[in-house]
Amino acid sequence: GLLEKGGYPHFMLKEIYEQAQAMKDCMRGRLLEQEKRVVLSAVTHHRERLLNAKRVIIVSCGTSWHAGLIGKQMIETFAKVPVEVEYASEFRYRNPVIDARDVVIAISQSGETADTLAAISLAKERGAFIFGIVNAVGSSIARITDTGTYIHVGPEIGVASTKAFTGQLTVLTMLALSLGKEKQTVSTTEYEEIVAELAVIPDKMERMLVFDKQIAELAKCYTYARNFIYLGRGYNFPVALEGALKLKEISYIHAEGYPAAEMKHGPIALVDAEMPVVVIATHHQLYEKTLSNIQEVKARKGRILAIVTEGDEVVKKLADNVIEVPATLACLSPLLTVIPLQLLAYHVAVMKGLDVDQPRNLAKSVTVE
Ligand code: G6P
Repeated sequence: GLLEKGGYPHFMLKEIYEQAQAMKDCMRGRLLEQEKRVVLSAVTHHRERLLNAKRVIIVSCGTSWHAGLIGKQMIETFAKVPVEVEYASEFRYRNPVIDARDVVIAISQSGETADTLAAISLAKERGAFIFGIVNAVGSSIARITDTGTYIHVGPEIGVASTKAFTGQLTVLTMLALSLGKEKQTVSTTEYEEIVAELAVIPDKMERMLVFDKQIAELAKCYTYARNFIYLGRGYNFPVALEGALKLKEISYIHAEGYPAAEMKHGPIALVDAEMPVVVIATHHQLYEKTLSNIQEVKARKGRILAIVTEGDEVVKKLADNVIEVPATLACLSPLLTVIPLQLLAYHVAVMKGLDVDQPRNLAKSVTVE
Protein backbone atom coordinates (compact mmCIF):
# COMPACT_ATOMS: atom_id res chain seq x y z
CA GLY A 1 0.00 0.00 0.00
CA LEU A 2 0.85 3.69 0.07
CA LEU A 3 2.25 3.37 3.59
CA GLU A 4 5.08 0.99 2.75
CA LYS A 5 5.93 3.22 -0.19
CA GLY A 6 6.39 6.12 2.22
CA GLY A 7 3.54 8.04 0.58
CA TYR A 8 4.95 7.69 -2.94
CA PRO A 9 2.79 6.15 -5.68
CA HIS A 10 5.55 3.70 -6.64
CA PHE A 11 8.63 2.15 -5.08
CA MET A 12 10.65 3.37 -8.03
CA LEU A 13 9.83 7.01 -7.33
CA LYS A 14 10.49 6.52 -3.62
CA GLU A 15 13.87 5.00 -4.42
CA ILE A 16 14.78 7.78 -6.85
CA TYR A 17 13.97 10.32 -4.13
CA GLU A 18 15.90 8.35 -1.51
CA GLN A 19 19.20 8.56 -3.35
CA ALA A 20 20.66 11.44 -1.34
CA GLN A 21 20.01 9.66 1.94
CA ALA A 22 21.13 6.32 0.52
CA MET A 23 24.40 7.85 -0.57
CA LYS A 24 24.98 9.28 2.91
CA ASP A 25 24.31 5.84 4.38
CA CYS A 26 26.76 4.35 1.91
CA MET A 27 29.50 6.83 2.87
CA ARG A 28 28.93 6.75 6.63
CA GLY A 29 32.10 5.79 8.50
CA ARG A 30 33.96 5.47 5.21
CA LEU A 31 34.19 9.02 3.94
CA LEU A 32 35.90 10.95 6.71
CA GLU A 33 35.25 14.55 5.76
CA GLN A 34 37.27 16.19 8.55
CA GLU A 35 40.28 14.00 7.84
CA LYS A 36 39.82 14.44 4.09
CA ARG A 37 40.10 10.74 3.35
CA VAL A 38 38.20 7.57 2.65
CA VAL A 39 38.63 4.33 4.55
CA LEU A 40 37.32 1.02 3.23
CA SER A 41 38.02 -1.78 5.67
CA ALA A 42 38.18 -4.29 2.81
CA VAL A 43 41.08 -2.32 1.35
CA THR A 44 42.82 -1.99 4.72
CA HIS A 45 42.53 -5.73 5.36
CA HIS A 46 43.58 -6.91 1.90
CA ARG A 47 45.99 -4.16 1.00
CA GLU A 48 48.77 -6.33 -0.44
CA ARG A 49 46.50 -8.50 -2.52
CA LEU A 50 44.66 -5.54 -3.99
CA LEU A 51 47.69 -3.38 -4.65
CA ASN A 52 49.54 -6.20 -6.37
CA ALA A 53 46.76 -6.86 -8.84
CA LYS A 54 48.12 -6.86 -12.37
CA ARG A 55 44.60 -6.42 -13.68
CA VAL A 56 41.04 -5.93 -12.47
CA ILE A 57 38.08 -7.63 -14.09
CA ILE A 58 34.61 -6.36 -13.27
CA VAL A 59 31.76 -8.84 -13.74
CA SER A 60 28.09 -7.93 -13.46
CA CYS A 61 24.77 -7.67 -15.32
CA GLY A 62 22.26 -4.97 -16.25
CA THR A 63 22.48 -1.73 -14.31
CA SER A 64 25.34 -3.12 -12.22
CA TRP A 65 27.30 -3.62 -15.45
CA HIS A 66 26.79 0.05 -16.31
CA ALA A 67 28.15 1.04 -12.90
CA GLY A 68 31.14 -1.20 -13.70
CA LEU A 69 31.88 0.76 -16.88
CA ILE A 70 32.13 3.96 -14.86
CA GLY A 71 34.16 2.18 -12.17
CA LYS A 72 36.64 1.08 -14.83
CA GLN A 73 37.31 4.67 -15.83
CA MET A 74 37.87 5.73 -12.22
CA ILE A 75 40.08 2.77 -11.26
CA GLU A 76 42.22 3.21 -14.37
CA THR A 77 42.49 6.97 -13.81
CA PHE A 78 43.26 6.97 -10.09
CA ALA A 79 44.85 3.56 -9.44
CA LYS A 80 46.52 3.11 -12.84
CA VAL A 81 45.69 -0.56 -13.17
CA PRO A 82 44.05 -1.94 -16.33
CA VAL A 83 40.39 -2.85 -15.89
CA GLU A 84 38.13 -5.00 -18.06
CA VAL A 85 34.38 -4.96 -17.70
CA GLU A 86 32.55 -8.14 -18.64
CA TYR A 87 28.97 -9.28 -18.79
CA ALA A 88 28.96 -12.11 -16.24
CA SER A 89 26.93 -14.25 -18.66
CA GLU A 90 29.61 -14.01 -21.35
CA PHE A 91 32.60 -14.24 -19.04
CA ARG A 92 31.46 -17.55 -17.54
CA TYR A 93 31.41 -19.32 -20.91
CA ARG A 94 34.45 -17.71 -22.48
CA ASN A 95 37.20 -19.77 -20.85
CA PRO A 96 38.79 -16.45 -19.87
CA VAL A 97 42.51 -15.98 -19.31
CA ILE A 98 42.63 -15.35 -15.60
CA ASP A 99 44.98 -16.25 -12.76
CA ALA A 100 45.92 -15.61 -9.16
CA ARG A 101 47.21 -12.12 -9.87
CA ASP A 102 43.83 -10.91 -11.09
CA VAL A 103 41.30 -9.19 -8.89
CA VAL A 104 37.67 -9.69 -9.85
CA ILE A 105 35.14 -7.11 -8.72
CA ALA A 106 31.63 -8.55 -8.73
CA ILE A 107 28.87 -5.93 -8.64
CA SER A 108 25.34 -6.99 -7.75
CA GLN A 109 22.42 -5.28 -6.06
CA SER A 110 20.63 -8.50 -5.10
CA GLY A 111 23.71 -10.64 -4.58
CA GLU A 112 21.75 -13.51 -6.15
CA THR A 113 22.17 -13.10 -9.93
CA ALA A 114 22.92 -16.58 -11.29
CA ASP A 115 25.30 -15.47 -14.05
CA THR A 116 27.33 -13.29 -11.69
CA LEU A 117 27.55 -16.12 -9.16
CA ALA A 118 28.79 -18.51 -11.84
CA ALA A 119 31.36 -15.97 -13.09
CA ILE A 120 32.69 -15.62 -9.54
CA SER A 121 32.97 -19.39 -9.08
CA LEU A 122 34.95 -19.69 -12.30
CA ALA A 123 37.31 -16.85 -11.34
CA LYS A 124 37.75 -18.36 -7.88
CA GLU A 125 38.70 -21.75 -9.33
CA ARG A 126 41.45 -20.03 -11.29
CA GLY A 127 42.75 -18.40 -8.12
CA ALA A 128 41.60 -14.80 -8.63
CA PHE A 129 40.80 -12.68 -5.59
CA ILE A 130 37.13 -11.68 -5.48
CA PHE A 131 35.90 -8.31 -4.21
CA GLY A 132 32.11 -7.91 -3.95
CA ILE A 133 30.10 -4.70 -4.26
CA VAL A 134 26.70 -5.87 -3.08
CA ASN A 135 23.58 -4.38 -1.54
CA ALA A 136 21.79 -7.40 -0.02
CA VAL A 137 23.56 -8.23 3.23
CA GLY A 138 24.23 -11.96 3.64
CA SER A 139 23.29 -12.75 0.03
CA SER A 140 24.98 -15.56 -1.92
CA ILE A 141 27.44 -13.25 -3.67
CA ALA A 142 28.31 -11.49 -0.42
CA ARG A 143 29.11 -14.89 1.06
CA ILE A 144 31.25 -16.37 -1.72
CA THR A 145 33.44 -13.31 -2.32
CA ASP A 146 36.80 -13.00 -0.52
CA THR A 147 36.02 -9.51 0.69
CA GLY A 148 33.94 -6.55 -0.33
CA THR A 149 32.09 -3.38 0.48
CA TYR A 150 28.33 -3.30 0.93
CA ILE A 151 26.62 -0.34 -0.70
CA HIS A 152 24.16 -0.11 2.23
CA VAL A 153 21.44 1.78 0.33
CA GLY A 154 18.59 -0.17 1.94
CA PRO A 155 16.19 -2.56 0.21
CA GLU A 156 15.48 -1.79 -3.42
CA ILE A 157 12.02 -3.02 -4.44
CA GLY A 158 11.30 -1.43 -7.84
CA VAL A 159 12.46 -3.78 -10.59
CA ALA A 160 14.27 -0.94 -12.37
CA SER A 161 17.40 -0.28 -10.34
CA THR A 162 17.98 3.33 -9.24
CA LYS A 163 19.49 3.94 -5.82
CA ALA A 164 21.61 0.79 -6.09
CA PHE A 165 23.27 2.32 -9.17
CA THR A 166 24.26 5.52 -7.37
CA GLY A 167 25.35 3.45 -4.35
CA GLN A 168 27.53 1.26 -6.57
CA LEU A 169 29.12 4.36 -8.10
CA THR A 170 29.79 5.74 -4.63
CA VAL A 171 31.60 2.57 -3.53
CA LEU A 172 33.52 2.36 -6.81
CA THR A 173 34.66 5.97 -6.34
CA MET A 174 35.81 5.30 -2.78
CA LEU A 175 37.55 2.12 -3.91
CA ALA A 176 39.35 3.81 -6.82
CA LEU A 177 40.46 6.62 -4.50
CA SER A 178 41.67 4.24 -1.76
CA LEU A 179 43.68 2.18 -4.23
CA GLY A 180 45.09 5.31 -5.86
CA LYS A 181 46.09 6.72 -2.48
CA GLU A 182 47.82 3.51 -1.40
CA LYS A 183 49.64 3.23 -4.73
CA GLN A 184 50.39 6.95 -4.82
CA THR A 185 49.04 7.17 -8.32
CA VAL A 186 46.64 9.98 -7.48
CA SER A 187 47.87 13.36 -6.25
CA THR A 188 46.91 14.46 -2.75
CA THR A 189 45.27 17.56 -4.19
CA GLU A 190 43.07 15.61 -6.56
CA TYR A 191 42.29 12.97 -3.94
CA GLU A 192 41.19 15.57 -1.40
CA GLU A 193 39.23 17.50 -3.98
CA ILE A 194 37.20 14.40 -4.90
CA VAL A 195 36.69 13.45 -1.25
CA ALA A 196 35.36 16.94 -0.47
CA GLU A 197 33.09 16.92 -3.49
CA LEU A 198 31.73 13.42 -2.74
CA ALA A 199 30.58 14.75 0.62
CA VAL A 200 28.38 17.41 -0.99
CA ILE A 201 26.88 15.29 -3.77
CA PRO A 202 23.87 14.23 -1.62
CA ASP A 203 22.88 17.91 -1.23
CA LYS A 204 23.21 18.42 -4.97
CA MET A 205 21.07 15.33 -5.59
CA GLU A 206 18.44 16.72 -3.28
CA ARG A 207 18.44 20.07 -5.10
CA MET A 208 17.81 18.37 -8.41
CA LEU A 209 14.50 16.89 -7.37
CA VAL A 210 12.86 20.29 -7.96
CA PHE A 211 13.01 19.37 -11.65
CA ASP A 212 10.70 16.43 -11.11
CA LYS A 213 7.60 18.44 -12.10
CA GLN A 214 9.29 19.82 -15.20
CA ILE A 215 10.34 16.30 -16.24
CA ALA A 216 6.79 15.01 -15.63
CA GLU A 217 5.49 17.72 -17.98
CA LEU A 218 8.12 16.90 -20.54
CA ALA A 219 7.30 13.19 -20.38
CA LYS A 220 3.85 13.91 -21.82
CA CYS A 221 5.48 14.92 -25.11
CA TYR A 222 7.33 11.64 -25.39
CA THR A 223 4.70 8.95 -24.88
CA TYR A 224 4.22 8.77 -28.67
CA ALA A 225 7.84 7.77 -29.30
CA ARG A 226 8.75 4.31 -30.59
CA ASN A 227 12.50 4.92 -30.33
CA PHE A 228 14.94 7.05 -28.38
CA ILE A 229 18.66 7.71 -28.68
CA TYR A 230 20.78 8.57 -25.63
CA LEU A 231 24.22 10.10 -26.13
CA GLY A 232 27.05 10.78 -23.70
CA ARG A 233 30.83 10.74 -23.57
CA GLY A 234 33.55 9.84 -21.10
CA TYR A 235 32.11 9.14 -17.67
CA ASN A 236 28.66 9.89 -19.06
CA PHE A 237 28.67 7.35 -21.87
CA PRO A 238 27.64 4.58 -19.45
CA VAL A 239 24.97 6.96 -18.11
CA ALA A 240 23.56 7.14 -21.65
CA LEU A 241 23.40 3.33 -21.64
CA GLU A 242 21.71 3.38 -18.24
CA GLY A 243 19.18 6.03 -19.28
CA ALA A 244 18.28 3.95 -22.33
CA LEU A 245 17.96 0.80 -20.21
CA LYS A 246 15.60 2.55 -17.76
CA LEU A 247 13.35 3.65 -20.61
CA LYS A 248 13.28 0.18 -22.20
CA GLU A 249 12.61 -1.57 -18.92
CA ILE A 250 9.61 0.37 -17.74
CA SER A 251 8.13 2.33 -20.64
CA TYR A 252 8.69 -0.32 -23.35
CA ILE A 253 10.14 2.24 -25.72
CA HIS A 254 13.12 1.02 -27.68
CA ALA A 255 16.16 3.09 -26.75
CA GLU A 256 19.84 2.94 -27.58
CA GLY A 257 22.69 4.48 -25.67
CA TYR A 258 25.69 5.51 -27.74
CA PRO A 259 28.97 7.33 -27.22
CA ALA A 260 28.13 10.64 -28.92
CA ALA A 261 30.97 10.53 -31.42
CA GLU A 262 30.01 7.04 -32.58
CA MET A 263 26.61 8.33 -33.72
CA LYS A 264 27.97 9.12 -37.18
CA HIS A 265 28.72 5.42 -37.70
CA GLY A 266 25.11 4.35 -37.67
CA PRO A 267 22.47 5.79 -35.36
CA ILE A 268 22.44 9.15 -37.12
CA ALA A 269 20.61 7.40 -39.98
CA LEU A 270 17.65 7.02 -37.60
CA VAL A 271 17.38 10.70 -36.75
CA ASP A 272 14.32 12.55 -38.08
CA ALA A 273 11.70 14.90 -36.64
CA GLU A 274 10.12 11.97 -34.76
CA MET A 275 13.28 10.91 -32.99
CA PRO A 276 13.91 12.11 -29.45
CA VAL A 277 17.63 12.37 -28.68
CA VAL A 278 18.72 12.73 -25.08
CA VAL A 279 22.21 14.20 -24.83
CA ILE A 280 24.29 14.43 -21.68
CA ALA A 281 26.24 17.62 -22.35
CA THR A 282 27.62 18.70 -19.00
CA HIS A 283 30.71 20.90 -18.77
CA HIS A 284 33.24 18.11 -18.74
CA GLN A 285 35.32 15.94 -21.00
CA LEU A 286 34.63 16.65 -24.65
CA TYR A 287 31.92 19.25 -24.05
CA GLU A 288 32.80 21.11 -27.26
CA LYS A 289 32.70 17.93 -29.28
CA THR A 290 29.32 17.02 -27.80
CA LEU A 291 28.08 20.43 -28.93
CA SER A 292 28.86 19.56 -32.52
CA ASN A 293 27.03 16.25 -32.12
CA ILE A 294 24.01 18.24 -30.94
CA GLN A 295 24.25 20.39 -34.06
CA GLU A 296 24.34 17.29 -36.24
CA VAL A 297 21.14 16.01 -34.64
CA LYS A 298 19.51 19.41 -34.95
CA ALA A 299 20.38 19.65 -38.65
CA ARG A 300 18.32 16.47 -39.10
CA LYS A 301 15.43 17.88 -37.06
CA GLY A 302 15.83 15.47 -34.14
CA ARG A 303 14.16 16.52 -30.88
CA ILE A 304 16.90 17.26 -28.40
CA LEU A 305 16.60 16.95 -24.67
CA ALA A 306 19.92 17.96 -23.13
CA ILE A 307 21.25 17.41 -19.62
CA VAL A 308 23.50 20.40 -18.98
CA THR A 309 25.50 22.04 -16.21
CA GLU A 310 23.60 24.75 -14.32
CA GLY A 311 23.94 28.08 -16.10
CA ASP A 312 24.82 26.65 -19.52
CA GLU A 313 23.55 29.08 -22.14
CA VAL A 314 25.05 27.53 -25.26
CA VAL A 315 23.17 24.23 -25.29
CA LYS A 316 19.98 26.00 -24.22
CA LYS A 317 19.92 27.78 -27.59
CA LEU A 318 20.31 24.54 -29.53
CA ALA A 319 18.22 22.04 -27.59
CA ASP A 320 14.42 21.78 -27.54
CA ASN A 321 14.54 21.22 -23.79
CA VAL A 322 17.24 21.29 -21.16
CA ILE A 323 17.50 19.95 -17.64
CA GLU A 324 20.18 21.54 -15.49
CA VAL A 325 22.32 19.66 -13.01
CA PRO A 326 24.61 21.29 -10.42
CA ALA A 327 28.27 21.63 -11.39
CA THR A 328 30.57 18.89 -10.14
CA LEU A 329 33.73 16.96 -11.04
CA ALA A 330 33.62 14.83 -14.20
CA CYS A 331 34.08 11.52 -12.36
CA LEU A 332 31.20 12.30 -10.00
CA SER A 333 28.85 13.73 -12.61
CA PRO A 334 27.10 10.37 -13.31
CA LEU A 335 25.73 10.51 -9.74
CA LEU A 336 23.76 13.59 -10.83
CA THR A 337 23.16 13.16 -14.56
CA VAL A 338 21.48 9.78 -14.11
CA ILE A 339 18.73 11.21 -11.90
CA PRO A 340 16.82 13.15 -14.60
CA LEU A 341 17.08 10.07 -16.83
CA GLN A 342 15.56 7.88 -14.11
CA LEU A 343 12.77 10.42 -13.65
CA LEU A 344 12.17 10.69 -17.39
CA ALA A 345 11.75 6.92 -17.77
CA TYR A 346 9.52 6.86 -14.70
CA HIS A 347 7.18 9.60 -15.89
CA VAL A 348 6.94 8.33 -19.46
CA ALA A 349 5.90 4.93 -18.08
CA VAL A 350 3.37 6.48 -15.70
CA MET A 351 1.88 8.58 -18.53
CA LYS A 352 1.55 5.41 -20.60
CA GLY A 353 -0.32 3.79 -17.71
CA LEU A 354 2.26 1.03 -17.25
CA ASP A 355 3.16 -0.96 -14.16
CA VAL A 356 6.33 0.84 -13.16
CA ASP A 357 7.36 -1.36 -10.25
CA GLN A 358 6.61 -4.66 -12.00
CA PRO A 359 7.37 -4.29 -15.70
CA ARG A 360 6.40 -7.17 -17.95
CA ASN A 361 8.88 -10.02 -18.52
CA LEU A 362 11.42 -8.67 -16.01
CA ALA A 363 12.46 -9.88 -12.56
CA LYS A 364 14.13 -7.98 -9.76
CA SER A 365 16.74 -10.64 -9.43
CA VAL A 366 17.48 -13.22 -12.07
CA THR A 367 18.38 -16.37 -10.16
CA VAL A 368 18.13 -18.71 -13.15
CA GLU A 369 20.29 -18.67 -16.23
C1 G6P B 1 17.84 -7.73 -13.27
C2 G6P B 1 17.24 -6.46 -12.70
C3 G6P B 1 18.16 -5.26 -13.00
C4 G6P B 1 19.55 -5.52 -12.47
C5 G6P B 1 20.12 -6.84 -13.01
C6 G6P B 1 21.38 -7.24 -12.26
O1 G6P B 1 17.85 -7.64 -14.67
O2 G6P B 1 15.96 -6.24 -13.26
O3 G6P B 1 17.64 -4.10 -12.39
O4 G6P B 1 20.40 -4.47 -12.83
O5 G6P B 1 19.19 -7.91 -12.81
O6 G6P B 1 21.01 -7.53 -10.93
P1 G6P B 1 21.97 -7.48 -9.70
O7 G6P B 1 21.10 -7.79 -8.52
O8 G6P B 1 23.01 -8.56 -9.91
O9 G6P B 1 22.59 -6.15 -9.62
